[in-house]
Amino acid sequence: MKKLTFNTSIEVYSDVSELNETDASLLLAAKEAVEKAYAPYSKFKVGAAVLLENGKTILGSNQENAAYPLCLCAERVALFSAATQFPNIAVKAIAISAQSHNKQLSIPVPPCGSCRQAIYESEYRGKSPVRLIIQGEIGEIYCLDTIKDLLPLTFNADFL
Ligand code: THU
Repeated sequence: MKKLTFNTSIEVYSDVSELNETDASLLLAAKEAVEKAYAPYSKFKVGAAVLLENGKTILGSNQENAAYPLCLCAERVALFSAATQFPNIAVKAIAISAQSHNKQLSIPVPPCGSCRQAIYESEYRGKSPVRLIIQGEIGEIYCLDTIKDLLPLTFNADFL
């Protein structure tokens, strides 16, 4: 028997002012996107901002539906929009922020499992790691250099 061990490395910042300029402005863009969410059912608004290799920033917000399973997460709305507008440009980073109707979110809201897989597909497709910048409404900010830190043992096209 042997054991596989995975290391997850997360930079923790106490405030936006501690971030570098690129991360800070991407996080601000994600916060703008929160305001555009359509979340009348969960009242949980999520915003995502994708930074592309060509310098463009593409926003996404969660889009809900009375037929609940149709709801789309902010991260995938942003990634798929970016991939449609710029199909051959790699994704460099994604920032994510959220607001809840129930409470002030003071810890970072990490992407759901499906979005982790979608972010990983962007890494695979662009052949370059995607940096993550994650915050709740307030509080600490988590930064990671690759989605692999949140999704070890990734499934990808090499298996097909
Ligand atoms: N949501 C996101 O937009 N991203 C995530 O990573 C987690 C969840 C949305 C989906 C739904 O509209 C609401 O948050 C509550 O689950």
